[in-house]
Amino acid sequence: MIKDEFMIGGDGMKFKYDFPILTTDIVYLDNCATTLKPLEVIDAVSNYYKNYSASVHRGAYEISKKVNEKFDETRQKVKSFINAKDSCEIVFTSGTTESLNLAIKGFFLNYLKSKDEILTTKAEHASLLLPWYEVAKKTSANISYIDLEDDLSVTIKNVKKAINKNTKVISLAHITNVLGDIRPIKEITSLAHKLGILVLVDAAQSIPHQKVDVQDLDVDFLAFSAHKMLGPTGVGVLYGKKHLLEKVSPLITGGGMNAFFDSMMNVVYKDLPDKLEAGTPNIAGIIGFSSAIDYLNKLGIDDVHKYEVDLKKYAISKLSNFEYINVYNKDIENGIITFNVEGVPSKDVAEYLNQKNICVRVGTHCAKALSEVLGVRSTCRVSLYFYNTKEDIDKLVNALNGDILLLKTD
Ligand SMILES: Cc1ncc(COP(=O)(O)O)c(C=O)c1O
Repeated sequence: MIKDEFMIGGDGMKFKYDFPILTTDIVYLDNCATTLKPLEVIDAVSNYYKNYSASVHRGAYEISKKVNEKFDETRQKVKSFINAKDSCEIVFTSGTTESLNLAIKGFFLNYLKSKDEILTTKAEHASLLLPWYEVAKKTSANISYIDLEDDLSVTIKNVKKAINKNTKVISLAHITNVLGDIRPIKEITSLAHKLGILVLVDAAQSIPHQKVDVQDLDVDFLAFSAHKMLGPTGVGVLYGKKHLLEKVSPLITGGGMNAFFDSMMNVVYKDLPDKLEAGTPNIAGIIGFSSAIDYLNKLGIDDVHKYEVDLKKYAISKLSNFEYINVYNKDIENGIITFNVEGVPSKDVAEYLNQKNICVRVGTHCAKALSEVLGVRSTCRVSLYFYNTKEDIDKLVNALNGDILLLKTD
C-alpha cells in the first residue's frame, strides 16, 4: 500500500521534486537502459564523499567504521529486497554484466564438460550470451536454444521439449529487455531441479519493476544492476545459493579477499562474500544503492509494476490509432513498448523524437541474435518507470502524429 506522500501517478508532481531531470523539458523514456536517480540517492553518494569518504573494511578509525556500517547495511537491504536466505549470498559487482560473467566463468567454466548442454534463448542480452559462448568454446559444451512462440515468449512446454539428458544449465532473462516478455521462472526451476539442472537468471529488467523473491523462484544464481533501479552506475549484485557460491572461483584476486598469503604462494581466501569482492569496491555507489532500495520500498514494488502496466495500456490505446506504427509487444504486461514506424528507419524516428526532447532507445538493444527470429534488425524502444506520466505519453503520441511520415524512405 503506497503512503499518500508517495502516490504514483497523477501529474507526477511528487517525483518532480525528487528527480532533478524531471523538472526539465526532457521526456525520459529509456528506463531499461538506466533509470533516473532521486535526490536521496544523489545526496547519499555526495554525503559519503563530503563527510566520511574512507575505505571499507580496512580502517579502525571512526569514519571508516561508519563506512563499514553503511556498506554492510546495504547488503542486508539487498538480502531482504530479494528475500535471500543469508547476506553472504549477496556479492557486489559492477553490474549485471560482471555478475553474469562471474557466475558463468567462475562457476560453470569448471562445472561443465564436453558435450554438456547450456540451454538459453535467442532473445538474450549480449551480457548473458557472450560469456556463455566463451565457456562453451573452452569446455566444448553445446549451446542450444529454446524455441520461442510466435509472440517470442518462452513456454514451459518448449523448455521441456528443449531439455535432453546432456542439459546441465538453463540460463535466461526473467524479463527480456527488447519485448519485455516475462518468463515462467518458477516453473522452469521446478522442472530443472527435478532433473538436476541448474538455473541462472538475468534479472536486470525484472527486479526494478516487480517483486522478485529468490527463494520462492528457487533460482540458483541471479544477476542485476543498481543503476536500473534508481541506484548509482557501477554497482551490481550476483545472488547465488550459498553452497553454489562457495564453489565460484574468483575472477579477480587481490586485496580484501584473502585471509592469508606468503612468499611461497600459499594463499587462503576469505569466506563469502569477501572472497568474490577483491579490491576496493564502489563504496559511494553501494551506499547510494541503499537509498535507492529505501525509495522503492516506500513506493511498494507491486504498485510500481501495476502503474507501469496501466500506463503502457494507455500508451497502446493511443498508438493503436496510427496504422503506420507497428508495436511488437502490445499485450505484454509491463512498461516496455517496442515499435517501428512503417517506411521510416528506426534511427531516424529516434532522432526525430530527440529533437522534441523525447529520449527513446534505438537499435538491437544488445540482443542481436533476436533479429533472427523477430524479423527486423532495429527497433525503437520506449521503457517506462513509475515517474513517467500520461503527459509524457501524450507528448510521445503527438510527436509520432503525422509529420513523422515525411521521413519515409520508401
Ligand atoms: C536484460 C539485460 N541483461 C543485462 C544487461 C547488462 O546490464 P549492465 O550494463 O548494467 O551490466 C542489461 C542492460 O541493459 C539488460 O537489459
